[in-house]
Amino acid sequence: MIWDLFLCVFDIRFWIRSARSDAQLQRLRSEHDNAQSLNLLYQERKDPWGLDSPHFRYQQSKYSRMLSLLPSRRYKRALDLGCGLGTLTRRLRSHADEVVGIDVSDVAVAQATRETTEQSNLQFQQGDALNLSRELDNGFDLVVIADTLYYLSPLSDEVLQTVRERVAQLLMPGGILLLVNHFTVNLDPGSRWSPKIHRIFRSARDFTTVHESWRPFYLASIFQKSP
Ligand SMILES: C[S@@+](CC[C@H](N)C(=O)[O-])C[C@H]1O[C@@H](n2cnc3c(N)ncnc32)[C@H](O)[C@@H]1O
Repeated sequence: MIWDLFLCVFDIRFWIRSARSDAQLQRLRSEHDNAQSLNLLYQERKDPWGLDSPHFRYQQSKYSRMLSLLPSRRYKRALDLGCGLGTLTRRLRSHADEVVGIDVSDVAVAQATRETTEQSNLQFQQGDALNLSRELDNGFDLVVIADTLYYLSPLSDEVLQTVRERVAQLLMPGGILLLVNHFTVNLDPGSRWSPKIHRIFRSARDFTTVHESWRPFYLASIFQKSP
């Protein structure tokens, strides 16, 4: 915990960069739809949230901690929904035989594909969490959704419930969902939504809550789909 806090302060430029990108995304959304806005953001700032930068040790340590929460087993097929540049997706290869990363931004997907040298068990594709292909159903024993759902547009309780139902359909019976969302103290729009997002997933009949934790500065939950 103390180490996490130290890294947070040390990586102050990481937080400034994220806040600037969020502000720019807000501006872009006043003129473009969600996918176009994210594409423009990825074009202008190669790594808008600094997630792919090894210099930001807070984020890299957060990925390690998140993945350490997973029930330890070998997964057959994992999905990283809202994969961005694929930093977390690539890490999932040490947990699963096959990994798929999906992001609404085709600019991010193209960049993630370019930056992945060893792709034998890894695939990136463009897709919208609000309109995922039925071909994906029942296809994963692990789904990871990290810092993505508060970027949905439009964002409402009803939309989140729909996404929750869709995620349950993507999972095989007994499959695991790792849900992570940035959370400070309701200072920013993402943080204001995060507790609600986790509450909505927790209240699903299809899911059992296996683990929940708060760390500086995110909420992490592990859910299991009913066997
Ligand atoms: C802050 S980034 C997180 C990336 C990645 N999950 C990680 O933690 O490294 C949020 C990502 O969500 C994606 N995103 C936003 N809305 C989405 C949607 N409706 N469907 C799929 N991806 C979406 C964005 O394009 C962006 O890449």
